[in-house]
Amino acid sequence: MGSPMGKTLLPNHYGILYYAKDARLNKFYDVRYPHHRCRKCQVLRKDYGGKKAILHPFGPLVSDVWTDLHRIRHPKRRNEHPCQLPIPLLERLVLMTTDEGDVVLDPFAGTGTSLVAANRLGRQYIGIELDPRYVQIAEQNILANPPTSQIGGVWVSVYLDKIVTLRDRDWRAIQDYFLVPQPVERIDAQPVVLKSNLPAESEFALGPESRPQTKPLPFTDSFCIDER
Ligand SMILES: C[S@@+](CC[C@H](N)C(=O)[O-])C[C@H]1O[C@@H](n2cnc3c(N)ncnc32)[C@H](O)[C@@H]1O
Repeated sequence: MGSPMGKTLLPNHYGILYYAKDARLNKFYDVRYPHHRCRKCQVLRKDYGGKKAILHPFGPLVSDVWTDLHRIRHPKRRNEHPCQLPIPLLERLVLMTTDEGDVVLDPFAGTGTSLVAANRLGRQYIGIELDPRYVQIAEQNILANPPTSQIGGVWVSVYLDKIVTLRDRDWRAIQDYFLVPQPVERIDAQPVVLKSNLPAESEFALGPESRPQTKPLPFTDSFCIDER
């Protein structure tokens, strides 16, 4: 949501720069996000025509336009930084460009969103920030977000018990943690569901042996997704 500028169009995009210390060490991994669906009826927003059977069950590859992650508007989810970014946005970038154990450097760290994302995903981090008040908030945020954002030993970005970003190459390793509609054409009206999120009395109720345990995924209450 942009503010009127008077003489130009409303700015409705956010530029993101990322650099690797050595061009040869530059990494890029394709990532996926959940299919965009009607909130009420859960039907896919996009008409895939006769191609539903070949859709990826989890969701499409992320393009260079991201409409599923939104800026933080709700006052109760904001900290005092005017430019606070949503954690899932930074988690998507971290999954896309780094591996476990890599170092994420944010020289303008603010309240530490990038550092929180790095920590939650098992990366190391270095933050630089001028304002000591923001440094303090960043330290608290990092402590509140340990490196636990995993399913089946694979790092994923989660918000409100839903995976919002996973690496394309990791789907094969974790697909058994999801209930995938069968036949897959039913993906049109039925999203994949994490088995660990199914209520015990659900019509899909599974025995304990087929209900994989995910590690707890704690969040600070400082960001939001899809609040429009
Ligand atoms: C756009 S904000 C980053 C906000 C951050 N992404 C977040 O989610 O909280 C940029 C930050 O850079 C800090 N900053 C500006 N100049 C700096 C400098 N020379 N050295 C260190 N930090 C600086 C500002 O204090 C500000 O908090």
